[in-house]
Amino acid sequence: MFLMLLGCLCCSAVFSVDISCRDERGDPVDWFLIYKLPKKKIGAVGTGLDYMYLDSKMESWMMSAFLVNMTQGAIGQTLSQLYSGAYKSNSSVYAIYNDAPPIIKYNVSYGHTKGVMLFDRCQGFWLSHTIPHFPSFPEKGYIYPESGKVNGQTALCVTYKYKQFFHIVNQLLYMSPRFFNCSVPQTFSPEFSLLSKLCDNMKVPFDTDRSVEELVSANGEQFTSFVKSACFVDDIYSGWVAQLLAVNLLVETWQITGHPLPSNCSLPWHTLNIRRVRALGPALFLSRHDHSKWCVSRDLETPLTCLGDLNRDKAQMWRGGGLTCTRHPLIHKAFRRLVDDFMGC
Ligand SMILES: *[C@@H]1O[C@H](CO)[C@@H](O)[C@H](O)[C@H]1NC(C)=O
Ligand SMILES: *[C@@H]1O[C@H](CO)[C@@H](O)[C@H](O)[C@H]1NC(C)=O
Ligand SMILES: *[C@@H]1O[C@H](CO)[C@@H](O)[C@H](O)[C@H]1NC(C)=O
Ligand SMILES: *[C@@H]1O[C@H](CO)[C@@H](O)[C@H](O)[C@H]1NC(C)=O
Ligand SMILES: *[C@@H]1O[C@H](CO)[C@@H](O)[C@H](O)[C@H]1NC(C)=O
Repeated sequence: MFLMLLGCLCCSAVFSVDISCRDERGDPVDWFLIYKLPKKKIGAVGTGLDYMYLDSKMESWMMSAFLVNMTQGAIGQTLSQLYSGAYKSNSSVYAIYNDAPPIIKYNVSYGHTKGVMLFDRCQGFWLSHTIPHFPSFPEKGYIYPESGKVNGQTALCVTYKYKQFFHIVNQLLYMSPRFFNCSVPQTFSPEFSLLSKLCDNMKVPFDTDRSVEELVSANGEQFTSFVKSACFVDDIYSGWVAQLLAVNLLVETWQITGHPLPSNCSLPWHTLNIRRVRALGPALFLSRHDHSKWCVSRDLETPLTCLGDLNRDKAQMWRGGGLTCTRHPLIHKAFRRLVDDFMGC
């Protein structure tokens, strides 16, 4: 009886204590998206901290009333669940990874992927993003890095029930993320022994070079995770996802690294690089000032939107990383209208 009661309390919607993505008011939300605008826009210089916000309760983007370095915004509210003490708790699990961790030196042998997850036996969130040196170590509290102001950045947070984290951790395995701070308490092993090993930077073998997992958010929204390991040496967009899903993709990634991959029409489904983005404001900016990584299907009849880890860049063909995709029509509409100009073949 007591256990049953506990079980009920755990996932009850009546109490807003469940670990989840949090919106701009600090209330639980199924998913949210953030598009932080670059400092340099066409004809204007911004703060580099303002951002567009969209969540599962909304129809389209709005400009946030907050700056991304403020704890009142959705990312700050979401991470406060970790920073306020959950990182010391033995009843929840967390893991933070970033190929460019705060303080620690960059090591190119890890996957080009960034994120943080926090969950208990009921549920939690997975926040994946493109921001180097972020987030900070939990004992430091919320810090948005100076370096993260210059370029545009994107973030996707989804609330998942406990069991979905097995699938998520399995996907992480292929990407070889650089975990720089984690806690997997005794009570969660052996179920999460894989995460423990990854957190301890142990080598865990896997038998394919790519993996696809269907994920279902706490409210039943479908997301699909596509991940590749360093062994799949190709561009994730043109060489895999566009062909697999049979869509023409418009791709926004940062291509300043000197080895950009041009728009590609060699295979049946084309991958075209976005050149200029039209954000709210209107604020126009060039892709070379945008460190975000996202793509949309060109055609409205097959709505597909993905947010991810990898740039269209030759060097990153040799890195682990992934994309989280959705067929949600409103998300597609929101991103498709941002495309101001792209490069044909
Ligand atoms: C956020 O950045 C702005 C501009 O640099 C600064 O004035 C403000 O104090 C910062 N806020 C926080 C909470 O760090
Ligand atoms: C979990 O933490 C609580 C409070 O810190 C402690 O009393 C308890 O013994 C711990 N449980 C385990 C299994 O470590
Ligand atoms: C980078 O990481 C790999 C794999 O963990 C390790 O073998 C290597 O020594 C690291 N290199 C540096 C420079 O730290
Ligand atoms: C990382 O995480 C552990 C466990 O939560 C914590 O004790 C440690 O102080 C953290 N910080 C660093 C810098 O590793
Ligand atoms: C187009 O993309 C495919 C898959 O990534 C690649 O194999 C091919 O070489 C590319 N074509 C050109 C002209 O770059």
